[in-house]
Amino acid sequence: MFKGKNVVLGVTGSIAVYKAADIASKLTQRGLCVDVVMTKAAMQFVTPLTFRSITHRPVVTDMFEPASEFSVEHVALAERADVVVIAPATADAIAKLAAGIADEMLFSTVLATRAPVILAPAMDVGMWQNSITQENLTKLRSRGFTIVGPGYGRLASGLVGMGRLIENEEILGIIYHVLGRKGDLAEKQIVVSAGGTQEPIDLVRYIGNRSSGKMGYAIAEAARDRGAVVTLVTGPTALPALSGVDAMPVQTAEQMRDAVLKATAAADVLIMAAAVADYRPATVAEGKIKREADTLNLELVKTSDILADVKGDIIKVGFAAESGDMIARATEKLKKKQLDLIVVNDITAKDSGFDTDTNRVTFIGRDGKAEQLPLMLKLEVAHKILDRVVALLAGK
Ligand code: CTP
Repeated sequence: MFKGKNVVLGVTGSIAVYKAADIASKLTQRGLCVDVVMTKAAMQFVTPLTFRSITHRPVVTDMFEPASEFSVEHVALAERADVVVIAPATADAIAKLAAGIADEMLFSTVLATRAPVILAPAMDVGMWQNSITQENLTKLRSRGFTIVGPGYGRLASGLVGMGRLIENEEILGIIYHVLGRKGDLAEKQIVVSAGGTQEPIDLVRYIGNRSSGKMGYAIAEAARDRGAVVTLVTGPTALPALSGVDAMPVQTAEQMRDAVLKATAAADVLIMAAAVADYRPATVAEGKIKREADTLNLELVKTSDILADVKGDIIKVGFAAESGDMIARATEKLKKKQLDLIVVNDITAKDSGFDTDTNRVTFIGRDGKAEQLPLMLKLEVAHKILDRVVALLAGK
């Protein structure tokens, strides 16, 4: 979906430059055209050949290169960029950008561009904490630059502190978020629920389910990449946080209900991919239940139906985890919960449903028509769901 978009990846002289090779690779794999611009200091750490081999494009290093693809390089690069990313961005690079110094190709490109600029700082903790660096960043932020990171951890010097280049997944998330701003869901508020809820029995035990959260996270990621403002109401999962997405972590069905009702107050769309517990223990035992009695009965009470409780002018998409007579049962759910679309999952199939990366689903719309999709990656299923959401929004 990002085919034809141009990224300028600026690389400056930090020990973290090796991580930029992975960023260049991931962006290229997504179909983006990546022009790497290296500073002289960056070339002390790695050679342009690394990036040229990854991006299959010439690497820009010298402002005064006569025979180059770009006529007046910094202007040409600056104009065609949809986003400029500097990762890693050293304290020196940040200072130059803040001062408007354009003594290298990368800095003159940034000065000339109208594209959004993302900086991922990486430096020693002392340099990071220095008020000069902080003032420079404040200035750049006020000019619309997006600063991502740095992270906390072990630094090349051996010290532990702030200054590590933030994880690549986070940098990539921000890049996709920025590139998606003008997508077909631009400015739409979408609430996605994901993962399974946990209903406490006592201090250490709970009733849970096998949901991994992968489907919901894939929907949130895809919606973000298409320009939506995404709120992700998530039960506990082992998945990494999504950058550019507003997360509301919850544990129980009741907490999920509160979070979804709050988040949907001003939203255009709700997609409930979460596996919400239908029953919870009537009371939560104090401390830890002792292993004494031969039998133990838990009294369970019904939780509220979150999807049914969300009312108003909002598009509602539900999931139906089914076995057996799937279509009839899912159609019943669609009507009962007043949904615009229901996504039916066969939970008995090995390659779809819980904790897999793929899914085989059937869509049922308000007209009762069923559309069966082939086996796909969950991210592809997510985009198919969003295609239907775009059509539903257009038909409103
Ligand atoms: N759902 C919900 N609140 C609940 C239970 C389910 O909002 N308390 C949502 C799910 O997120 C899903 C849809 O309703 O989008 C259908 O969930 P599913 O578990 O398939 O159906 P149930 O309504 O729970 O019915 P049953 O378990 O009897 O099949």
